[in-house]
Amino acid sequence: MKRIAILGSTGSIGQSTLSVIASNPDRFELVTMAAGANVDSALEQARRWKPKVLSLASEQSAEKASKQLKAEGLSHIEVVSGEAGTIRVATHKDVDFVVSAIVGVVGLKATYEAVRAGKAIGLANKECMVAAGELITAEARKQGKPLLPIDSEHNAVHQCLRGGRMSEVERVWLTASGGPFLNTPTADFERITVEQALNHPTWKMGQRITIDSATMMNKGFEVIEACRLFDVPSSQIGVIVHPQSTIHSMVEFNDGSILAQLSVTDMRLPILYALTFPDRVPSDLRFSVLDLKKLDFYPPDFNKFPCLRLAYQAAEAGGSKSIALNAADEIAVAAFLNREIGFTDISKVVEHTINETKHRHPESIEEVLALDAQARELARHKLSHPVSR
Ligand SMILES: NC(=O)c1ccc[n+]([C@@H]2O[C@H](COP(=O)([O-])OP(=O)(O)OC[C@H]3O[C@@H](n4cnc5c(N)ncnc54)[C@H](OP(=O)(O)O)[C@@H]3O)[C@@H](O)[C@H]2O)c1
Repeated sequence: MKRIAILGSTGSIGQSTLSVIASNPDRFELVTMAAGANVDSALEQARRWKPKVLSLASEQSAEKASKQLKAEGLSHIEVVSGEAGTIRVATHKDVDFVVSAIVGVVGLKATYEAVRAGKAIGLANKECMVAAGELITAEARKQGKPLLPIDSEHNAVHQCLRGGRMSEVERVWLTASGGPFLNTPTADFERITVEQALNHPTWKMGQRITIDSATMMNKGFEVIEACRLFDVPSSQIGVIVHPQSTIHSMVEFNDGSILAQLSVTDMRLPILYALTFPDRVPSDLRFSVLDLKKLDFYPPDFNKFPCLRLAYQAAEAGGSKSIALNAADEIAVAAFLNREIGFTDISKVVEHTINETKHRHPESIEEVLALDAQARELARHKLSHPVSR
């Protein structure tokens, strides 16, 4: 029985993880969970799963949830809050495996502490890897514990890498659906609305990652995530647009063989793979090869999607430049969702922030978080000076 903590239980990945646990009650037990602001959904999950610890983002939310659970006779569920609460959920002594699925750098400290506590990690939170991938992977190696990618592309690469040695890898190919604006003329990008950007063609996900998919920043983050997870330079990572999203990624070996992973577009499959690695277990997440009509591939357009170009630059530089990329994007995406800036302003805010950030390699998570705060300040400053945009 694998004993599981979920960071971000109320989100899209968190709910899919609960669904995987529900389908495999003899293999997995939910022990602790952390959510953000969605108290009603967290309460519903707590009633169903009766975790030992439930964490919520704010003290007020935790108080509200705690009162409610006591009134329902569930006072044995310990309710905690804030960063300390999320860390408690991630490092609980009864937990073997932590699913890291909080969105953004707010999930970084708890993920890092889980690695330090020797937990195996199922990693969905890619922003953690963008900001602090070097430190997280170094600590996981020290602990001798796996960092198993849940992101479907890296999960696919992880599966393909089982077909050869790292020294035999020539190129990692990350596939990209291209998002909703693959065929939109560049001239129309200025007029893209929030509603259009939230309408992803193949995946149902949280808001930040959906916008990041529309700008292709998500693919850029994945390039950095792949560099850190598989210890491969960005020059060996290629992005290829594949609108059907059937092939989740590929690995090209030195003899010319290319291994690809195909499956349904359902995050429960990479979650199940991560939770059961190195085994495979039966599931009903089937994909019929007979349904394969057409597989298209195109090179990405770096001019149309400048975020992808910026991410390659940040991947190569690493350290503070990657931190700035993620921090500025988080601020810019939030501003776009609030209708404060336009779609094409997102990359401008990010580029400005990266250029204004001095190149440094942080040596601790505290330093990462300080650099993250500085980059956010720079991005906010850019937002409040629209004339020079
Ligand atoms: N969705 C996908 O298919 C997919 C695929 C690959 C990778 N990912 C990555 O997985 C991560 C999660 O994505 P998602 O789509 O599941 O996002 P989401 O639906 O927006 O969920 C985010 C989760 O984070 C929680 N959260 C936010 N702020 C928090 C805080 N301060 N403290 C504790 N919890 C907090 C949210 O809680 P509340 O809802 O309670 O506020 C929610 O549970 C992201 O890094 C994303 O890039 C997602």
